[in-house]
Amino acid sequence: MKSLLFFLFTVSGILMAQKPNPPGTDIHSFANSSEVVVSHIALDLSVNFDTKTLSGTAALSLEHKKKTKTLILDTRDLTISDVTLDGSTSSASYTLGKEVQYLGRPLTITITPRTKLVIVHYSTSPNAAALQWLEPSQTAGKEKPFLFTQSEAILARSWVPCMDGPGVRMTYSATIRTRPDLLALMSAGNPVAKSTDGIYKFEMKQRISSYLLALAVGNLEFRSLGTRSGVYAEPGIVEKSAFEFVDLEKMITAAEELYGPYRWERYDLLVLPPSFPFGGMENPRLTFATPTILAGDRSLVALIAHELAHSWSGNLVTNATWNDFWLNEGFTVYFEHRIMEKVYGRTYTEMLATLTLKDLQETIVSIGATNADTRLKLDLTGRDPDDGMTDIAYNKGYFFLRLCEETFGREQWDGFLTKYFTDNAFTTMTTEQFLKHLDARFGVLSNKDVASKIKANEWIYSPGLPDNCPKPQSTEFEKVMSQVSSFMNGTPASKLTTEGWTTHHWLYFLRNIPDSVRLEKVIEMDYAFNFTRSGNSEILCEWFQRCIKADYETAFGPMRGYLMNVGRRKLVKPIYTALAKTEKGKTWAKQVYEKARPGYHSVTYNTIDGILK
Ligand code: BES
Ligand code: ZN
Repeated sequence: MKSLLFFLFTVSGILMAQKPNPPGTDIHSFANSSEVVVSHIALDLSVNFDTKTLSGTAALSLEHKKKTKTLILDTRDLTISDVTLDGSTSSASYTLGKEVQYLGRPLTITITPRTKLVIVHYSTSPNAAALQWLEPSQTAGKEKPFLFTQSEAILARSWVPCMDGPGVRMTYSATIRTRPDLLALMSAGNPVAKSTDGIYKFEMKQRISSYLLALAVGNLEFRSLGTRSGVYAEPGIVEKSAFEFVDLEKMITAAEELYGPYRWERYDLLVLPPSFPFGGMENPRLTFATPTILAGDRSLVALIAHELAHSWSGNLVTNATWNDFWLNEGFTVYFEHRIMEKVYGRTYTEMLATLTLKDLQETIVSIGATNADTRLKLDLTGRDPDDGMTDIAYNKGYFFLRLCEETFGREQWDGFLTKYFTDNAFTTMTTEQFLKHLDARFGVLSNKDVASKIKANEWIYSPGLPDNCPKPQSTEFEKVMSQVSSFMNGTPASKLTTEGWTTHHWLYFLRNIPDSVRLEKVIEMDYAFNFTRSGNSEILCEWFQRCIKADYETAFGPMRGYLMNVGRRKLVKPIYTALAKTEKGKTWAKQVYEKARPGYHSVTYNTIDGILK
């Protein structure tokens, strides 16, 4: 009997331990948001470039859900000097829990069920993961320092004590105090010029998740692009930026025609210095963008369509947890393509889609078709969300939604999406809730016929790429492929037919040049097309990978310059990866990296450290 009881206990213990968290549980936040939520944050922060710190107060308004005597917030590397409640001047009782890797420390504050306001006095650490403090030499103007934040996925807690999970939404206001020669901007209503005293006030009236909290401070200017849009950049690149993004208003209109009104009033862009670790970040009302999209010919603006699309998919209807990340990114890639199709036509977007499929196939090969991270619904238990966020969420997500479009027809599908964004505006969504909506409208699970056409469960919960993946058709890329064949069969590079080719033609051309291509051919291509001197960072990234494989020495000087300047992870990671494949390459890479690393953002150097270790 005893042993039977023991057996039952053990088995149920194991089953309990293995039981997955119910959908919507946020494993990356300490916050007790099922008991009490932070509904508004009022920040008052001073920006200190000498100490590389933000310091001041965060006043958090509470909405009680249950009778609780504690408030638990997320923090990471914050120094807390005091906590007060409501109007009181005496300190509240609080403790900082023990540090957990990449999650930081829970800040537990004793409150009462009637506490309305909690004021945290704090300062950030000089190496706060969300903050990058740039020396003047790292900016376009080379004269003034620059600060920017990157809060997604769970880095907001390193500059604001908050409930740092996408499932909690709040409004915010802020007073930012900085040097009067710098302009401060946030993911909120923004000034268009510097103030005389360096004090700026902000207000975000719509409820957002903490990963959308954002701040940038630098020598910035504004150029209007339309009635509700414009661009901020350093003076030396602001004209170039305004030229590049001239179609912004058209994109906003196209997006609204597709899926309903833009709900955030203004849409502005901020072009950051080149160490910004991402292509873009959809901070509400103010997308942060890398200067590497300033190609001079407007050819890389799909990235803007992407960040704009997040104003619906992500910022309005938000992934409930980082396991549901594909609801943010897959929807956004799909929406991005639809905006681009409306503004630039189907020929263009079928090129984009073909490149997307190629990326997806290559990612699946590189991480393995049975790897659990190739599922749309992720399991990031015990991991830094950044480790599981690959382009699967983006590209497999895109093709799943495109499959829905092709199966149900555009009209039905667009009707569904418009309603989905309207009905669920300013709320969070789990993968399971989304599937329920999809089933209620189209029967993707309950109607046998539809279920077998879509295979939703396989797309979402199984690894690899299902066999019903849509196939983009690009006649432009067929032409590119025939030029690749001619070239590989001996036609000189200078005799290839490349008139009218755009960035995407060139990217596809380079990507289809076999790895085994000989050095003479690489040299020949460079003579004919001047790749090494291209001003287009996406082309350079592809080209340098070919140069590394062929050991084309001429390119290594410019490649060094590129790696020293560009900090966008997506554009440096493939180069370091290619270099790390040979001893010689790795030695060279380590030398360059030693110099380049201090200029990279933590997001980027955390990845590159892993490649070159
Ligand atoms: N929201 C992402 C950036 C992000 C994702 C930051 C996960 C932190 C964690 C943004 O919208 C994005 O996807 N940017 C892409 C560009 C896009 C065109 C695919 C990028 O930065 O490359
Ligand atoms: Zn995105």
